[in-house]
Amino acid sequence: MRVLVTGGAGFIGSNIAKEINKLYPTAKVYVLDNFSSGHFKNLIGFKGEVITGDIKDPELWEYIEKNFQFDVIFHEAAITDTTVQDQFLMMKTNSDSLRYVLNCALKWKAKVIYASSAGVYGNSSPPMREDRGLTPENVYGFSKLIMDQIALNFVQEYPDLKVIGLRYFNVYGPGESFKGKTASMVYQIYLQIKQDKRPKLFKWGEQRRDFVYIKDVVKANLLAMEKDVSGVFNVGSSQARSFNEIVQIINGLLGKNIEPEYIDCPYDFYQNYTQADISKAREILGYSPEYSLEEGIEEYVKFLQGL
Ligand SMILES: NC(=O)c1ccc[n+]([C@@H]2O[C@H](COP(=O)([O-])OP(=O)(O)OC[C@H]3O[C@@H](n4cnc5c(N)ncnc54)[C@H](O)[C@@H]3O)[C@@H](O)[C@H]2O)c1
Repeated sequence: MRVLVTGGAGFIGSNIAKEINKLYPTAKVYVLDNFSSGHFKNLIGFKGEVITGDIKDPELWEYIEKNFQFDVIFHEAAITDTTVQDQFLMMKTNSDSLRYVLNCALKWKAKVIYASSAGVYGNSSPPMREDRGLTPENVYGFSKLIMDQIALNFVQEYPDLKVIGLRYFNVYGPGESFKGKTASMVYQIYLQIKQDKRPKLFKWGEQRRDFVYIKDVVKANLLAMEKDVSGVFNVGSSQARSFNEIVQIINGLLGKNIEPEYIDCPYDFYQNYTQADISKAREILGYSPEYSLEEGIEEYVKFLQGL
């Protein structure tokens, strides 16, 4: 098996690439990345090769198409900072590049599993279901929605090829530290409490998100690889939990009792409540998240503490 992981130096991509190494030791795994938000340190222990390049560069895809042949493509590379407002750049990088990926998949008869996002749902009413409430609040969410539509059109035209979009909700866990300010709230809150600083939350910390542990997300990708289907699926924990609850859980694990500091939210495109309806992923992919927020944070904090 020959596997390409775009965005493989990033948080989710590097976890996928390393898990493929572990579960399929004979698979040839390649990472494609421009190291804009990823980091080589995420790839320490990775057994494979790196192709360095920009996914929005058509010449790069010509080179890849001519010189390589992959059976599976995990397409994770994207602008992942949801506050970027350059619409041209966001659409070129996130949406247009999927066409290059699909074009190669068509030549190679490869399966494509790409990263979509809960951002497609904006502030529509929870629980979010794949077929409704597609009202993104920012161009990032819009770029992911257009990816889903590109994929849908592609599979309608080429039904023999399999393309799966996974709408990740809020992913947290080892490998996200290089994302800096765009890393998860779990990581941000951990860092502040660890340094005895009051974690800053937007007023009043009762925003609720569907937080999903990285191991469940990697598992969803591997299930998608194994299934002979196409479609778009939510990948979350199916629970909406508040930022205040994260503060409480991390305080408990670190033996502290630090109160949050509440600040005004500067964004007018903020998602206040997300919760995935995962029944479609359960039924078709056999996806079933294993980690509750408490279990995921506990395992993650142990990792961060070097335990
Ligand atoms: N982390 C989450 O909570 C979450 C939620 C929903 C969707 N997603 C999606 O999952 C995917 C992976 O996200 P992540 O959290 O691992 O973020 P990340 O920023 O760690 O990973 C993205 C990777 O893509 C690379 N990249 C960016 N632009 C590129 C370009 N033009 N050419 C080549 N490589 C490029 C980056 O260097 C990085 O390694 C993304 O598509 C993201 O939109 C993530």
